[in-house]
Amino acid sequence: MNRPPSPAADRGPGGDPLIAVRGLTKRFGALEVLRGVDLDVAPGTVNVLLGPSGSGKSTLLRCMNLLETPDAGTIDVAGDRVFCTEKPKASPQKLNGLRRNLGMVFQHFNLFPHLSVRKNITLAPRKIAGAAREQADAEAEALLGRVGLADKADAYPSMLSGGQKQRVAIARALAMRPKALLFDEPTSALDPETVGEVLAVMRELACETTMVVVTHEIAFAAEVADHAVFLDGGVIAEAGPAGAFFASPRTERARAFLGRMTG
Ligand SMILES: Nc1ncnc2c1ncn2[C@@H]1O[C@H](COP(=O)(O)OP(=O)(O)O)[C@@H](O)[C@H]1O
Ligand SMILES: [Mg+2]
Repeated sequence: MNRPPSPAADRGPGGDPLIAVRGLTKRFGALEVLRGVDLDVAPGTVNVLLGPSGSGKSTLLRCMNLLETPDAGTIDVAGDRVFCTEKPKASPQKLNGLRRNLGMVFQHFNLFPHLSVRKNITLAPRKIAGAAREQADAEAEALLGRVGLADKADAYPSMLSGGQKQRVAIARALAMRPKALLFDEPTSALDPETVGEVLAVMRELACETTMVVVTHEIAFAAEVADHAVFLDGGVIAEAGPAGAFFASPRTERARAFLGRMTG
């Protein structure tokens, strides 16, 4: 078969990570939630971020696109230093660039309830990227087709199931043509019967998009991930190729966690 090499296969040894996090710390008051996290996300790879509730997974994702301001460390995205301890406040231009590069999908969708599905998807392309209405609308419809919701452009979020809302949220994230997508427990708030339709969309995206996925869907994670990261108590307790991680985690903590999660 003459398949083109995947972006990951393209990357020679020493290829630059798309996202590089070094020595990241984050405190909420007296609580030190991230305690020196190092993480590389290679282009074209799917990275799953696992760990017990409260271990800092959401905080780490939110720090990556500066929804939270870290206390120390560095974050580089697509070769741009977006955070360092000495210069903790990013300019509005830097923030805009960062948010365009990293699309975010939240547990609770975060759609605008007063806007149609089409407007939810076209808002950022029009307001931030300056896209013309016709072009933004056409792209929104193409993206809705991709997530299996071609007939929902005029619907409002309240008319949709959780699985449909999350697929709209994924289309909205894709509309800015991000370099990577960050997912924070995208199926945790869904009725069990709609989890599969969201995972199906993510499975397709996994073939072509750089992704960081926080999830408790262990079977899905094991199926799509290239790289697994296990966070425990604000530190990365184990990280490595997903195949080896899921087959035989090296650390007792990761082994115990996977055992609990898979019953
Ligand atoms: N905005 C906040 N203010 C205070 N504490 C927070 C805030 N966000 C998270 N925390 C605390 O930080 C810890 C890690 O939270 P989080 O990153 O959400 O973990 P996870 O996503 O792994 O469950 C938890 O103890 C949580 O209560
Ligand atoms: Mg969380």
